[in-house]
Amino acid sequence: MSAPSTGKFGSRIGFILAAAGSAIGLGNIWRFPYTAGENGGAAFVLVYLGFVALIGIPVLLAELSIGRASGKNPVGAFETLDPKRGSKWPWVGSLGVLTGFGILSFYSVIAGWTLSYLWRALSGEFASAMSPEQSDVIFKQIISSPVEVVVMAGVFLLLTAVVVRGGVSGGIERAAKVLMPMFFVVLLVLAVRALTLPGGGAGVTFLFEPDFSKLSGAAVMSALGQALFSLSLGMGAMITYGSYLQKQEPLGLAGVSVALFDTAIAVLAGLIIFPALFSVGAEPSAGPGLVFVAMPAIFDQLPMGTAFGVAFYALLAVAALTSTISLLEVVVAYLVGERGWNREKAVWVVTGTCFLLAIPSALSQGAVDIQLFGQSFLDLMNILFGNVSLSLGALLIAVFAGWRWGADKALAEMKGMPMGGLWAVAIRYVCPLAIAGIMIYILVTGNFF
Ligand code: TRP
Repeated sequence: MSAPSTGKFGSRIGFILAAAGSAIGLGNIWRFPYTAGENGGAAFVLVYLGFVALIGIPVLLAELSIGRASGKNPVGAFETLDPKRGSKWPWVGSLGVLTGFGILSFYSVIAGWTLSYLWRALSGEFASAMSPEQSDVIFKQIISSPVEVVVMAGVFLLLTAVVVRGGVSGGIERAAKVLMPMFFVVLLVLAVRALTLPGGGAGVTFLFEPDFSKLSGAAVMSALGQALFSLSLGMGAMITYGSYLQKQEPLGLAGVSVALFDTAIAVLAGLIIFPALFSVGAEPSAGPGLVFVAMPAIFDQLPMGTAFGVAFYALLAVAALTSTISLLEVVVAYLVGERGWNREKAVWVVTGTCFLLAIPSALSQGAVDIQLFGQSFLDLMNILFGNVSLSLGALLIAVFAGWRWGADKALAEMKGMPMGGLWAVAIRYVCPLAIAGIMIYILVTGNFF
């Protein structure tokens, strides 16, 4: 194995693909469809798209500027840009590191399910027509088998650790360059097939014809959480990736391309999953199992269905891997940069402890009944770290970039940002007010879930 190294991204396209690799993952294919399905469809989707534009893109640019200006991990970045002794801002970085660890723990469980499905696709299990009920039986069987879910989550964490050990430009950039475009092509083919299934049109209606009476406070909170989660924002992943970016690169175009790419993939996933669901008469509100139950319905409708099934799960696993890499990288970059650990030790200690935290999540989906506040352990981790903590993090990052560090300094770091004035208004006013407003509303109404 090559010596651990970090260093910078080698090219702009390498960076865009690595950042897009972080953003594109289970958040798009697994989390977006089931969250949209649970929250009534189109109205949720519109709010989500609005949040990507008004909050996601501005916060993404803020994180990239903070990262590159400081050249540091999230904790070190706030220390460098606010060097006053006793500054509280580095705590935002610490919250981010903790959040990354928390997300990694449950994310690797879902990624493990993907490996289970890949294995079954390879053995030809999805080649023949399957009713939603049969598909559901297979799903339940997988997620309630204690050994399989724990082992697969462990395998996935191990894969992540091996890549992160090799450093940023070695593994991440090279893998992302080839595999992300391939994933896009497979998704396009699947979307064409799903959209032409009999009855598939109802899925498009569900995704794009809003009924705002279905929109609850909790749905708005989930849409915000989803926008941040999908773009890998609110915990410093993009600060860390920004710190590996060459000094002279303009950030605006790179950031906006990543956001557009990511959002397009989420919508594309919706255009596969909802038509497929409606064509077999299944329910869109099935929860976290949605994608896994829906997808086998498409493969048997395609020539070379087995091959498409294998390609889909393999590439989904890779997309998940480029995301878990960015989560682990944040925690490792912090331990190396701030605590002076060597990279090797940081990778293995974090991976090992994260595996321990992944176990209750893995078991909570059917193997063992682990419930807190009426939620399974995995759902609770997803809501706490994936929605609440990211929202708080994004709020604080926006305030820091807009007010403490200063919008003018951030803009200078972006190097020739078109419509910079608009960005400044968004980061200083729109983001803090919108995020704080939603969080206060949720706290006051107690409408968490
Ligand atoms: N954005 C990734 C996805 O959609 C998940 C992810 C990777 C993430 N890094 C993150 C989410 C940092 C929040 C913060 O699958």
